Amino acid sequence: MTEVRRFTHGSRIPGWDDAVDFSKDPAVVPDAATTPVPEHLRAEIEEYMARYPDFRSASIPALRAAQREHGWCSPLAIEQTACVMGLTPGYLTAVGTFYDMIETQPSGRQAIYVCTNISCSLRGGDAIYSAMLEAAADDSDLNVRHFECLGACDIAPMASVNGEYVGPLEPSDCATIIADVKAGREVLPDKQLRRRPSAHTIAKQES
Ligand code: FES
Repeated sequence: MTEVRRFTHGSRIPGWDDAVDFSKDPAVVPDAATTPVPEHLRAEIEEYMARYPDFRSASIPALRAAQREHGWCSPLAIEQTACVMGLTPGYLTAVGTFYDMIETQPSGRQAIYVCTNISCSLRGGDAIYSAMLEAAADDSDLNVRHFECLGACDIAPMASVNGEYVGPLEPSDCATIIADVKAGREVLPDKQLRRRPSAHTIAKQES
């Protein structure tokens, strides 16, 4: 079974306590004249900014938009986002490196997050993670990661596959999930959280 790595500082996130590099020049807001931004990306970011009283609250959706555009939050993606938002790349890098779903290193476009937090772990989440890695077989388009609680403990052990929550999973489901993702098919329709009947629906059916 693949061991989920934890760092000595207790976090699963490497580098959070790296020292600041004071030798770097002070950050500046990228110049719009020398920072071309795809028009559709600019429009999407501006639309997010307009939703909040403080436009900086749009940092996460803006970075997610740049990530969809570039495949990951590359220095160029962050530069373009910073240019549109009138922020420094450093500000957005600080936000991006804090949140797990912002990829600040090159990664596969297909996001497969296997929950290995307590409820899922007790119900075999680590075995699901191992089986998912094995099924993915180093395909660079697949971003298979273990994840902290994804907030769906009632379907433990579970995974988020490009945002689709599926569970409870068996190790044998992993090959199907990977095949579905590669083929662009819907993933495990019978195990999707959003298709489960709610207590309200069941009560209505029984009355
Ligand atoms: S512990 Fe896995 S979803 Fe909560």
